[in-house]
Amino acid sequence: MWRNFPLFPDTASDLAREVDALYFFALGVTAFFSLLIAGLIFYLGLRYRRRSPDEVGRPERPAMALEIVWSLVPLVITMFLFVWGARVFFSLSRPPADATEYYVVGKQWMWKFQHPEGVREINTLHVPVGRRIKLTMTSEDVLHSLYLPAMRTKADVLPGRYTTLWFQADKPGVFPLYCAEYCGAEHSRMIGRLVVLEPKDYEEWLAQGGRAVSTVLVSGEQLFQERSCATCHRPDAATRAPLLHGLFGKRVELASGGSAVADETYIRESILNPRAKLVAGYDPVMPAYQGQLSEDELVQLVIYVKSLGAAAPAGSTSP
Ligand code: CUA
Repeated sequence: MWRNFPLFPDTASDLAREVDALYFFALGVTAFFSLLIAGLIFYLGLRYRRRSPDEVGRPERPAMALEIVWSLVPLVITMFLFVWGARVFFSLSRPPADATEYYVVGKQWMWKFQHPEGVREINTLHVPVGRRIKLTMTSEDVLHSLYLPAMRTKADVLPGRYTTLWFQADKPGVFPLYCAEYCGAEHSRMIGRLVVLEPKDYEEWLAQGGRAVSTVLVSGEQLFQERSCATCHRPDAATRAPLLHGLFGKRVELASGGSAVADETYIRESILNPRAKLVAGYDPVMPAYQGQLSEDELVQLVIYVKSLGAAAPAGSTSP
């Protein structure tokens, strides 16, 4: 019914419909009680108005049953809303483990996307229908926020950190994509399109788009060679630098005591500032790459390190 209402965004996922159901339920409850209370104020004011100037009110004893009812009914309704809202929130904020990962870099004032298959795009993101898609996002400069109204999802995009959001489109179409965090003069022009294609159209699109660009993974591997990372991070030179194969997602012991999980943010930090969280047993010999790599290149390196897998044998370079 609200589809035709021009202010209401398109709906293109199950989760979006769940968010809407919750929203309209909350709106309905609010409207019902607002009207009920306003009506009662009006009716009771009229019914019990003072009829002569010397009329004095009688003291009332509070009715226990009434007190209990109007305490319990709102409690039940708000707890219902809370549990329902928390469930929707958890589904929205926890990307499923089997989601396909796309990388996003925001900068003043554009969105850059990198597909797992290697294609890169600016301000337009093509995805297939029915696939769970996880966006791992970072910013090259200031705070941005990626907002996909048709998926009812949004997440801040921060410099120096990776944040995620996910969705699963269930119908093809072109949907708007916004920056939802004021990020400077042209914030309002930091907009794009989410293009949802049927899987076979997506494959076709990839086949056409994928030709022109090298894959993200290959770029990552090239960078790894070019920047001489491979000199020390070699499977057979493990004495100089920690072995990267099978590193991703593991907990590492730090020289400063304590430990850290080798996730995207940790790998990024360790490239930019290797001394920040030095692994126990190694000397701080690695140069800092702060200011020498763009966010795109960092993402490529992170993808490369990730591709070395959780348990892959030495020498393997494909995910
Ligand atoms: Cu980027 Cu607003």
